[in-house]
Amino acid sequence: MIAETNFKPGLEGVVAAETRLSSVDGEAGELIIAGFPLEELAPNAAFEEMVYLLWHDRLPDAAELAVFRNRMAAARGLPPAALDLLRAAARDAAPAMDALRMAAGALTGGDDHEADAVRLVACFPTIVAAYRRLLNGQMPLEPRPDLGHAANYLYMLVGETPDQTRTRALETYLNTVVDHGLNASTFAARVIISTGSDMVSAVVGALGALKGPLHGGAPGPALNLVFEIGEAANAETVLRRRLEAGERLMGFGHRVYKVRDPRADVLAAAAEKLFQAGGDRALYELARAVENTALRLLEEYKPGRRLQTNVEFYTALVLHGLGLPAELFTPTFAISRAAGWTAHAFEQIAAGRIIRPQSAYTGTKTRRWTPLAAR
Ligand code: ACO
Repeated sequence: MIAETNFKPGLEGVVAAETRLSSVDGEAGELIIAGFPLEELAPNAAFEEMVYLLWHDRLPDAAELAVFRNRMAAARGLPPAALDLLRAAARDAAPAMDALRMAAGALTGGDDHEADAVRLVACFPTIVAAYRRLLNGQMPLEPRPDLGHAANYLYMLVGETPDQTRTRALETYLNTVVDHGLNASTFAARVIISTGSDMVSAVVGALGALKGPLHGGAPGPALNLVFEIGEAANAETVLRRRLEAGERLMGFGHRVYKVRDPRADVLAAAAEKLFQAGGDRALYELARAVENTALRLLEEYKPGRRLQTNVEFYTALVLHGLGLPAELFTPTFAISRAAGWTAHAFEQIAAGRIIRPQSAYTGTKTRRWTPLAAR
């Protein structure tokens, strides 16, 4: 019999894993990734360096990085079964996250966890870009061996080699959301791999968890809010109307961060650089004005709740600035988080213990079997 007091709805406050991958301190507004402050790592590392760091617990030297880049490049092409699934999904106009889940499942799970992890992380951009093109009635583009992970994604989407500024902005985004403690999708991956299952199954399960709007889905609505406001002079009226109606402002507030989400700062800086180099500078200025007004009004309407800008607000701005449509925001999040999921799966394999919590039975114990004819 489990004492009722042991039941934690949503497992809130329950520590269910040890990890060296990331540390989230919501009171200090601090995110540490594998020992590094996020703000130092994210704007500087190539995504391949980030993956290497998570998997090996140290940054690669130049020779190790070259070998790792080549390994990723060799694994980036899709098997025919995955492409067939994407074509079928495009005929049904399936949501991009569903298409990603289907094609990821075709990357065949085996006993070699590391080979599977490389293939999963390497192929995610290829899958998302191929699906986007198929949906648009275009032929998918082969990945280019001379381009890195982030640049390949942008190239495979539109067929143009991205410049350094755009590549850097995407890498900074991918690095920023690569891992975040025991979030729901990471927990799902750890549960699956803990049973002795394979890496592909763990990542496909994690994708399913990420798809839910409570986990991976706010940047689209956050951007819509900025578009709806349209110009800075309207911000106060629109935001007040929403708050008066009891609505939540998308892109603000966080369960863990009670000061500003450090990821928002990193992405705000990335957005500023991106929009300085070209693109819709006015949109960037508008977003900053909306943010300032929103923070002021949230303090007025929700005093003491400590509602701050969260990662989704600037995610929307960076990804939009890179030309990505809102439907690709969550799949792009998955392209990054696949590295975190696989790294957690390696940790869980090393921990070597099945995750098997308990439930508190709330039903009756006094029923007796009645034959069908007598019911
Ligand atoms: N706008 C207006 N009011 C808000 C907001 C918001 N964005 N967020 C919280 N509040 C208010 C609540 O209405 C509540 O008010 P009350 O005390 O008067 O009832 C108070 O602040 C506390 O809210 P909770 O729901 O207890 O906060 P919780 O920690 O559960 O919520 C959440 C966190 C879900 C992120 C919430 O802030 C929210 O809905 N934000 C908007 C959606 C969003 O941006 N989601 C992305 C989050 S980032 C991520 O998940 C990666």
